[in-house]
Amino acid sequence: MNDGLRLTVLGAGYLGITHAASMASLGFNVLGVDTDRGKVDQLNAGHLPIYEPGLGELLRAGLDAGRLRFTTSYAEVAAFGDVHFICTGTPQRPDSGHADLSQVHACVTALGPLLKRPCLIAGKSTVPVGTARRLAAELAGYYPGAELAWNPEFLREGTAVADTLSPDRIVAGVTSRRAEELLRQVYARPIAGGASFIRTDLETAELAKTAANAFLATKISFINAMAEICEAAGGDVRALAQVLGADPRIGPAFLRAGLGFGGGCLPKDVRAFTARAHDLGVGDAVAFLREVDAINLRRRARTADLTLELAGGNLAGVPVCVLGAAFKPGSDDVRDSPALDVAQILTGMGASVTVYDPAALDNARRARPELCYAASMRQAASGAHVVLLLTEWKEFTRLYPGDLDPIVARRNIIDARGVLDPLLWREAGWQFRALGVAHDAVATAPSF
Ligand code: UDX
Repeated sequence: MNDGLRLTVLGAGYLGITHAASMASLGFNVLGVDTDRGKVDQLNAGHLPIYEPGLGELLRAGLDAGRLRFTTSYAEVAAFGDVHFICTGTPQRPDSGHADLSQVHACVTALGPLLKRPCLIAGKSTVPVGTARRLAAELAGYYPGAELAWNPEFLREGTAVADTLSPDRIVAGVTSRRAEELLRQVYARPIAGGASFIRTDLETAELAKTAANAFLATKISFINAMAEICEAAGGDVRALAQVLGADPRIGPAFLRAGLGFGGGCLPKDVRAFTARAHDLGVGDAVAFLREVDAINLRRRARTADLTLELAGGNLAGVPVCVLGAAFKPGSDDVRDSPALDVAQILTGMGASVTVYDPAALDNARRARPELCYAASMRQAASGAHVVLLLTEWKEFTRLYPGDLDPIVARRNIIDARGVLDPLLWREAGWQFRALGVAHDAVATAPSF
């Protein structure tokens, strides 16, 4: 149990819901706030508006225990909280690579004037370095008893609950011992479980998140750059990644070559970091991140080119089956989804594209209503001339040629996630292409 601290969570998006439910599961009394009345009602009724394994159960357990509640009232939040967590989104601005901080600012300007009791406001959203210092000054103008800290969140979609309750590290960007102590109290259980607690200044805490995401994106784009070389030179990027990953200085994580990174974080964080560094006059220091972004986007174009090639040089009216819409398996998130982008590019090239995804169809329909969707893999592949595997859901990675043979019109498949065994498909008479493998290379699946 905890020692009576009362927590609030500002913003009931992916991060906010996960943080609120996780903190309630640690025994804290938690009040979440969001301006969307419909979402608040839905959450209070125990309905999770997103797909995240284990989170629905945690939400309902918190509500049932009377430790978790959601409201639209900032006055209630101000009166309730000892620690307020800012968990609002920071999407890319439509007109530039910069982060749109309007939601972060909105919750600080909503909460600040209502504060009447000493509290800590801990930012968890991903923000450009320098934001926290500005917000701290703004808060001090509203109420001197409010202190700001930055406490970035590193959770991944699909494993958000485990990442929150058992993180590798907790970063506490603070300006006082009191703020550090409060955050140590909040995270006492994960710290006791082995999470390292790293105290920093505000700027380093903000950078900790941006730099981590930039590094991960760079690692993925590095292996995808090697994929381009393999395609030209005749190597197999999967075996190459296995060799690189066996070096403990490099490590195997985030070396899966393929269609590249998407989602609500990595792409926009790379761009926001580049934009912020430019504003700070040190754009050259992260100029390589533009290349990281470019390599990533080239994978999508390359997949479209391979489809064109397999279709014989003309995609007009050609039925194409796209397997996958989510930006990664285990998620229904289609923000900056490489799979949907490829579906869109192919549609633009005249193909008749049908998309299937086991979890993300509703979101995909909302995001790209102009595309055609099927309710099953069989339906999507029926009569297809080319099948593309674009998100590595288990039901796709376990595909055998015999599953599709009786359904498709032509046996052409592109494995854009490096998960199928080329030999198996080629022996079954399929034209098989994979990213990162020269098309005439006789490769087998690597043994990891
Ligand atoms: C990421 C960070 O991992 C997380 O720490 C941060 O808090 C938010 O951003 P997330 O967006 O949930 O998390 O997904 P992640 O699992 O990191 O994958 C990001 C993208 O990279 C996905 O599109 C995935 O398919 C792709 N990816 C990942 C690869 O292409 N190759 C890899 O080896 C790993």
